[in-house]
Order: sequence, then C-alpha cells, then structure tokens
Amino acid sequence: MRKKVIAGNWKMNLTLEEGVSLASEVVNMAKDELASDVTMVLCTPAIHMAAVSKLTAEVASVHVGAQNISEHESGAYTGDISADMALSTGAEFVIIGHSERREYHFETNAQLAARVELALAKGLTPLFCCGESLETREAGDHVSFVTKQLEESLYQLSAEQMEKVVIAYEPIWAIGTGVTASTEQAQEMHKSIREALASKFGAEVAEKISILYGGSMKPGNAPELLAQPDVDGGLIGGASLKSRDFIDIAKSY
Ligand code: G3P
Repeated sequence: MRKKVIAGNWKMNLTLEEGVSLASEVVNMAKDELASDVTMVLCTPAIHMAAVSKLTAEVASVHVGAQNISEHESGAYTGDISADMALSTGAEFVIIGHSERREYHFETNAQLAARVELALAKGLTPLFCCGESLETREAGDHVSFVTKQLEESLYQLSAEQMEKVVIAYEPIWAIGTGVTASTEQAQEMHKSIREALASKFGAEVAEKISILYGGSMKPGNAPELLAQPDVDGGLIGGASLKSRDFIDIAKSY
C-alpha cells in the first residue's frame, strides 16, 4: 500500500508569529480529524522549521519539511541551508526541484540529482518535483519532458534508494493559477511517471512510490484527484495557508 501524503508548501509566506499560529491550528485540527493512514507534511520557510517541529511533534503523522537544501554539506553558500541544518530543526522531508526554484535559481537536473542523493544519505525524505510548462504540454511533449527530469535526477539511484523518494508532479501551468489539471491529465502523467520508474527500477519498486499531484489542488477538486489510481496525495500551495482548507484536502481520500 502506497503512503498517502498531503504536503503543504508555504513558499515565501508568513512571519514567525503567523507561522506558529497556522501550524498550531493545523496540528490541533489534525489531532481530531486526520486519518491515521495519512501522512501530513508542513514544508515551511527555514525560519519556521524549528518552532513548527515542536508543534508537529504532538501528532505522529504530522511532519516538517524544508523547501530546499544545498547539495553541499556546509560552507560559503550564502542564503542556503544544508541537510544537517534542516535535520537539526526536526525536519524529516525536503522539497527538491520545485519549478519556482528551477526557474528563479536556475537549478539543473544534475544539481538536483546531487541534492536527492545527499537528502537520502542524511535520512531526509525527498519530495522530488517534476512538471512541464504550458508550451511543452501544448506541443504534446509533456510526457517525454517529465520523463527526462526523472532520468537525469533519479535514475542514478539504487532501487533501495528510489523506494524512499516521494514524487510530486506539478504542471507549471496549474501552479498558483487556479487552473487545475483535469483528472484525466493528472492520471495520464502519474501513470506515465510510474511506468517510467518501473522500466528503470522494476514494477515492484514503482508500485511502492507515492506520486503526489500539485497545482491548484483545493478542497473542491481534491476528492476527484485523489480518487485517481496513480494519485497518492497532494503538494499544496495556496490552500495550505488556510488551516481549514488544508485539513479538508487531507480528509478527501
Ligand atoms: O508546491 C505546491 C505548489 O507549487 C502548488 O501551488 O498554490 O497551485 O496549490 P498551488
């Protein structure tokens, strides 16, 4: 049985006080409403991680994730955080290769491969992001484009390592736009991702890997998306900043 994972990506939002307040609301709601087989992850800005970890420690199935880590262990990388720094806050997950970082920080598939390997070596669970632009989809190249992202960032892993990776498919044209992929579009790509992973790592491994959907998932569309056979959860942006919406998405299985 694949893990059901609902992760919130707070992106660059919330002061310290606002972050603690949101995390407190989410944790308190999760205590009463989150099903025990759903893993919830709060991927907060670095400034929030330690404080939020203290709150999420109250619920076994709620965790903290970083939004990125350097591929370097430590050193002169101003503004970055390392895997060890993330771990020291209590973080257990890390988003790697979000499209916004690929775009604004020019992250390459090779660089992301190094980050995935370092995260695994340190015991962090990577939430590896992939997804195509609208132009790529309209050209009909979306499957080959996403498959290339997987090949260049994940195919160096062993099967044992790959089993620990969570994939997040986030069509760029659906992120923050309110234009959500249809259930058919989401299922088509998730199935293609699983088939690509099966061709490299074997069907048994591919069947174990959770593949999340991200891109304008809301309480209103979460049930039909999560009902798709190859959609195992969500990576939620805007809706994760509203405790009620985020919990309602996590209750949508
Ligand atoms: O990482 C999740 C994010 O990219 C999706 O954002 O606001 O469309 O849910 P949003």
